Amino acid sequence: MMKIATIAALIGSASAFAPAQTGKASTALNAEMSKSVPFLLNPSKTDGLIGSVGFDPINWSDNFDIKWLQESEIKHGRVAMLATAGFMAQQFVSFPMFADIHVDDSNLAPAAVGISGMMQIVFFAGAEEWRTNKGKITMADMFADSDRVPGDFGFDPMGKLKGKSEAEINDMKLKEIKNGRLAMLAIGGMIHHNFIFGEALF
Ligand SMILES: *[C@@H]1O[C@H](CO)[C@@H](O)[C@H](O)[C@H]1NC(C)=O
Repeated sequence: MMKIATIAALIGSASAFAPAQTGKASTALNAEMSKSVPFLLNPSKTDGLIGSVGFDPINWSDNFDIKWLQESEIKHGRVAMLATAGFMAQQFVSFPMFADIHVDDSNLAPAAVGISGMMQIVFFAGAEEWRTNKGKITMADMFADSDRVPGDFGFDPMGKLKGKSEAEINDMKLKEIKNGRLAMLAIGGMIHHNFIFGEALF
């Protein structure tokens, strides 16, 4: 399967270098192709979004609220950025009052903390989600009657966005989404490293 996808991707990108075919459309509908997956149609609902490279191979943007999808990606990215930092840090640092439950392998940390501690984390994350969205936490109602920009909670404690132009803010948003995507891959790699080798990261 991977091989087929790789070959298809190569054919897709090779055709970008082929000589121009005297105005002949490459598809019957003359539809625009995706920038990141050149053999698929461009998902038009992702056009113009910050960080969009036309990547939506299973057409989620046709079937779900695009703002909800954007916010999911941004939040997952933020959580993953914190997670990668925490996953590494916890091997070396622990709070003095929790020194007795310290484990080197971060995968074992949830068990060391125990079920009630983990439930508290889930509960507070849920309560915060509820609070910031004023109780509207489903895909159908989160953005239905709000013009909130996905990922924007007015959180800027250090005033980093003050006085910035829209272009500068968009640049920071692009950096955030790209760092978030990288972190989502990274935390998956770290967790599986520990599973497979059965030992701590470093
Ligand atoms: C996505 O939508 C396009 C255009 O409607 C269609 O050709 C394609 O088969 C769809 N892909 C999937 C995985 O459903």
